[in-house]
Amino acid sequence: MNELRPMPLVKIVASLVLSAAFTVAGSAQDQAPDVGPHPNVGRSQMESQIGGIVGHSDSGRVKYDYVRYCAGCHGTRGDGNGENAAWLDPKPRDFTMATFKCRSTPTGMLPTDEDLFNTIGRGLVNSNMPPWNTFTRQQKADLVAYIKTFSPRWQKEKPGDPIPIPPEPPITIESISHGKYLFTKLECWKCHGPQGRGDGPSASTLTDSKDQPIRPYDFAESSKDSRFKCGTTNRDLYKIFMTGLDGTPMPSYADIIKPADAWDLVHFLRVLQVHRPGRENEILAAAHGEIPPYVEKPDGQKSQAQPAIRPPSGMGSE
Ligand code: HEC
Ligand code: HEC
Repeated sequence: MNELRPMPLVKIVASLVLSAAFTVAGSAQDQAPDVGPHPNVGRSQMESQIGGIVGHSDSGRVKYDYVRYCAGCHGTRGDGNGENAAWLDPKPRDFTMATFKCRSTPTGMLPTDEDLFNTIGRGLVNSNMPPWNTFTRQQKADLVAYIKTFSPRWQKEKPGDPIPIPPEPPITIESISHGKYLFTKLECWKCHGPQGRGDGPSASTLTDSKDQPIRPYDFAESSKDSRFKCGTTNRDLYKIFMTGLDGTPMPSYADIIKPADAWDLVHFLRVLQVHRPGRENEILAAAHGEIPPYVEKPDGQKSQAQPAIRPPSGMGSE
């Protein structure tokens, strides 16, 4: 009935005084950050490009797919707080952070559309994230675009350039030997353990960026012997430690390991997968299971794997 009551005079005066005070402080205000909750800018439309396919975040289908298949874990807001999240370890990804484990791009950078597309199809082993391999390519491309709506980073930043990967050199016992040397020197064993069983001295202390306990990968576990969260091939393995798994204690070694040396480390990691049939384990078996020691050049310079330390055929090394 009596809407629009006039503002009492005291209040008007008070608000005038207040706004004057703010004008005085105005210059300082200009430099201050924009505090308070930000509008959900992430919700504007996004696209993804997968080969010839363009994914759309606003396709009628994608919202349905996301709500039906993903939101139970990742939450309708993409914050990883779906109704099942409480029971899961590791926790579903919080897409509002735009931090992803599996990337072809350098650490700290956004993944490419293709990285996300591949992850969705592959799923993440040792977690509850299933492979979504019954979706069409278009559906997956749309989901990639949709995931990108949850964080404003996707509007401000471009994905990094994929790291260059030189062609894989032949697998030799010298390569494995140099890889073993790197695994020791770079202290991968502190987390992954001397035999790669995920039981190094630091293993029990690790947490991810959301303070959840996290275990290093166990290379020797027989049932999961050749799959990683971020792929299955030697190239995937190369990418894993050269890009790092962002959001986890698994760092990027791109600044430390030279590209050619990285392949030697890949070859060594494969022999930690003791139950995996593959060229690396064949070569090791041919060397009677003995990895010859790698000798560092006295000047500390990286050298070729040392043919001199190859054991004479038919004899073990010591
Ligand atoms: C049953 C729970 C569950 C469902 C359903 C689910 N996810 Fe996940 N998802 C997870 C978990 C758990 C992780 C984190 C795994 C980890 O960190 O190892 C994850 C991680 C991810 C990641 C991050 C990958 C990276 O590189 O960091 C993406 C992308 C993703 N999910 C997409 C989807 C999409 C798209 C759907 C729906 C089609 C979906 N997920 C459905 C549980 C689920
Ligand atoms: C500070 C501890 C730490 C160090 C040091 C470390 N890692 Fe890891 N690594 C981890 C953790 C934790 C995971 C598991 C991440 C996950 O499950 O999300 C992991 C996972 C991995 C994986 C599996 C990734 C996947 O996609 O499943 C590989 C391969 C790997 N590390 C290789 C290495 C190599 C090679 C080195 C040394 C050059 C190394 N790590 C050093 C903690 C470490």
